[in-house]
Amino acid sequence: MNISIIGTGYVGLVTGVCFAKLGNKVICVDINEKKIEMINKGVPPIYEEGLEQVLVENKNRIEATRDYRYAIQNTDVTFICVGTPSEDDGSIDLKFVKEAAEEIGEQLRNKDGWHLVVVKSTVLPGTTGEVVLPLLERYSGKKAGVDFGVAMNPEFLREGIAVRDFLEPDRIVIGYYDDKSREVLRKLYSSFSCPIVETSLSAAEMIKYASNAFLATKISFINEIGNRSKKIGIDTYEVASGIGMDKRIGRAFLGSGIGWGGSCFPKDLNALRYWAKEIGEKIDIINSVIEVNRKQPLRMIDLLKKHIPNLNGKTVGVLGLAFKPYTDDIRESRSIPVVRRLLEEKAIVKAYDPKAMDNFKKVFPHITYCSSAVTVLEGSEAVLIIKKWDEFRRLDYSGKIVIDGRRVLEAKKTARIYEGVCW
Ligand code: UDX
Repeated sequence: MNISIIGTGYVGLVTGVCFAKLGNKVICVDINEKKIEMINKGVPPIYEEGLEQVLVENKNRIEATRDYRYAIQNTDVTFICVGTPSEDDGSIDLKFVKEAAEEIGEQLRNKDGWHLVVVKSTVLPGTTGEVVLPLLERYSGKKAGVDFGVAMNPEFLREGIAVRDFLEPDRIVIGYYDDKSREVLRKLYSSFSCPIVETSLSAAEMIKYASNAFLATKISFINEIGNRSKKIGIDTYEVASGIGMDKRIGRAFLGSGIGWGGSCFPKDLNALRYWAKEIGEKIDIINSVIEVNRKQPLRMIDLLKKHIPNLNGKTVGVLGLAFKPYTDDIRESRSIPVVRRLLEEKAIVKAYDPKAMDNFKKVFPHITYCSSAVTVLEGSEAVLIIKKWDEFRRLDYSGKIVIDGRRVLEAKKTARIYEGVCW
């Protein structure tokens, strides 16, 4: 098929590159000239494992442009993959989605033949049918379900392993407005062996939010169990193994620690909470999941203060700053509240992360950044392990108080005092 992708962030680019790998011809549209140039040279503007190789191998089937007209005229299916940033109240900003719908609509006005528009951006239930579809109709002067099709096809890509997640999904969700749209997406995904769930547009939108909310709930749940277990000396990982073997529960996302961060979970849970309010409802469980997660990283400071009650003037090392290992992304990282609290307590903070220090410097310019994990340890009385990078396993923590937020159990062997957050 000939596919256009609007937006070349990590979702759009991974989607485009993977569709090209599956044999489709892909045109990516972005407003950023630099990104366009890079993609056309076979260089991904973002880092995702395996992305560069797939892009290079399929360069003859993928191109990037600014030109909506060219993209829509030369393709049969368009995926909207633009960002949906958060507003302060938790609602999501639909500006880019609306702009994309307007541009596509304008181009459809002059296009002969049927075209399918698919929303892949994460949007609240009702958005595709009540915002995108009317805009497409208004700007094209045509009728949805007759002259063009509309569908909603959420993504479940984890940052860092997005290419693998795209190519080996657990399921594919197709929310469709009209039967022809469903047929076209069925065909597009026909080489996948996973189940395909076919739903209404708004159920597809809700599946995305409910998936992320459930995963975040699992983490907050095990952290709550873990906080209580820790008090009486239970290792929560043993509990997680014990309950995770129950097929109804599953072991995934029961990794207790200092909670969830990143570009999706916090934003999506806040949006869900906002959406519930908008329809005159409350989502109590989501409020609790968010609240547990807000407090969870600060448990590291409580554990630290058990051993050093007054942190004023004490040097504390922080290992790992990104929201999860192997990325430079610090959005909503649990390291942020930890470092903030350390500074409020007037501790001297030395930090290291193999990838994320440049980003962290923008938020905390005045702490000491070290060139290695070993340097962090030098002169620090205590060390907080925030992320599970392999190199943190091999360090010699002799003489240090180690508060471990991510279960780097090797640290226990050498540390003077070792405390795991939930074990
Ligand atoms: C998530 C979803 O997994 C993905 O499907 C969605 O499309 C985007 O959001 P991502 O944000 O890349 O992906 O990260 P993920 O690997 O899911 O981890 C999210 C956060 O949860 C991280 O901060 C991670 O450290 C934390 N986490 C994860 C735990 O604390 N315990 C776990 O057991 C798993």
